[in-house]
Amino acid sequence: MFAKIGSLGLFGLNAFPVDVEIDISRGNPQFDIVGLPDLVVKESRERIRSALRACNIEFPTASVMVNLAPADTKKSGSVHDLAIFTALLKAMGIVRCPLDDSCFIGEVSLNGDVRSINGVLPMILKARENGIKSVFVPADNAFEASVVDGVDIYGVSSGNQLIDHLCGESLIPVQPRYVPADTEYNEILDFSDVKGQQSAKKALEIAAAGGHNALLIGSPGSGKSMLAKRMPSILPPLTFSESLETTNIHSISGLLDSKTPLITKRPFRSPHHTISSAGLAGGGSIPRPGEISLAHNGLLFLDELAEFDKRTLEIMRQPLEDRQVTISRASGTVTYPCSIMLIGAMNPCPCGYFGHPKRKCICGHNQVKNYLSKISGPLLDRFDLHIEVAPVEFDDISSEHTEESSAEIRKRVQAARAIQSERFKDTTITCNAMITADKLQQMCPMDDDAKELLKNVFDKLGLSARAYDRILKVARTIADLDSCDIISKRHIAAAAQYRSLDRKYWSGN
Ligand SMILES: Nc1ncnc2c1ncn2[C@@H]1O[C@H](COP(=O)(O)OP(=O)(O)OP(=O)(O)O)[C@@H](O)[C@H]1O
Ligand SMILES: [Mg+2]
Repeated sequence: MFAKIGSLGLFGLNAFPVDVEIDISRGNPQFDIVGLPDLVVKESRERIRSALRACNIEFPTASVMVNLAPADTKKSGSVHDLAIFTALLKAMGIVRCPLDDSCFIGEVSLNGDVRSINGVLPMILKARENGIKSVFVPADNAFEASVVDGVDIYGVSSGNQLIDHLCGESLIPVQPRYVPADTEYNEILDFSDVKGQQSAKKALEIAAAGGHNALLIGSPGSGKSMLAKRMPSILPPLTFSESLETTNIHSISGLLDSKTPLITKRPFRSPHHTISSAGLAGGGSIPRPGEISLAHNGLLFLDELAEFDKRTLEIMRQPLEDRQVTISRASGTVTYPCSIMLIGAMNPCPCGYFGHPKRKCICGHNQVKNYLSKISGPLLDRFDLHIEVAPVEFDDISSEHTEESSAEIRKRVQAARAIQSERFKDTTITCNAMITADKLQQMCPMDDDAKELLKNVFDKLGLSARAYDRILKVARTIADLDSCDIISKRHIAAAAQYRSLDRKYWSGN
């Protein structure tokens, strides 16, 4: 007896259809799986044997051969268990209904329960693309799967429940489609908690409005971490397609919260400085996304930037430019997106007081030099905004004055993003920081005074071509916040002032 059931596999973010073919024929009792299965797939034989027993079905005393097609693509993990289980039921004649436009994904446990798996969302999207009408998934993943419209999702909790459904005895209801509510901002951390620091707040507003990378530098206790941790409260909401992209990455990493199947807020990731290169950029024998990809469409905050391993930081250089990271392993090459805003925070020297207006720095010249050299020139170049966080003044910290709330700042950020959405509507660009070199002139028009000033700044600061592009993009954002189409001199002046740190701290190093 022969049967064929649809399933789906996953490599990196790429889902692919898998046909589970099964043939039960007379011969020595055996149960084999072919089609480049890894060890976990091979072990599904034991799980399925036991699950059938739990459903009071005797395993056939015959030769059972399973082929996972296409035979030349590696299959990994326990995702095909449910399809093999169903194919076996079909080949044994227990299930008779047609299942041509259905797919089955999920792990089967020894007692016949169906267990959740990672990466359901990219697989469901692939199923829809291939014209599949119904997908049977583990009950715990049904909520996540219901984000995709146009496919009926059935959440299966046990083998017995699946058999009852397929034999028409007791039907599993279709999972209602999940419609995300408007993004709610219920952040506990609000910019109104930060006293004074107007210029740092303004700089972070520009960073959020244009999606720019920013480096906060200042003495201990000046409020760098405090400011950065309040960024989620002013970031604009995700669009639906951005939500899907970000959720896909969290889905394959198994990081989705069961109550929120779709990520609707920009991610904020802040890994500790002891993180490995693989943890930050992605890696492993089956390459997994790193923090930089988990922050896709959101913010990666590296606090105590100078404490990170230098090589780990350097690995980010290429992904920051390309907005994607490619990892090659013997098992294949995967590419994960990482379109992020990078925020770094650091002290200017080991004691923390270099350049402090009142306290004396006790570090020697070489100590300061070695400390700062942990951030290489090319990496520094990738920070569009260098924000000097001055020690907070006593008058500010003790003032009763109510500071502006995140909601008010966010309004301006969203207005600037609305202008950008209009500007980039027929492109893949979503914010000013992503403007490509070929579109820079067209999208960042300047008046004559602005051009003149930019030329002077370029010559005087000895800027790289990248820094030139980045100043122009930041000026674009400042002009958007100012509701100006044409970039004028004051926008360039404001943008250029945020490149001053490399002169003050890094010059002569
Ligand atoms: N502008 C401010 N308004 C109110 N409180 C502040 C301000 N700046 C700092 N603080 C207080 O100081 C604490 C320390 O600030 P924070 O941890 O952000 O400093 P930091 O610059 O990150 O220091 P470090 O370099 O040691 O990491 C904050 O938790 C907050 O209580
Ligand atoms: Mg800090």
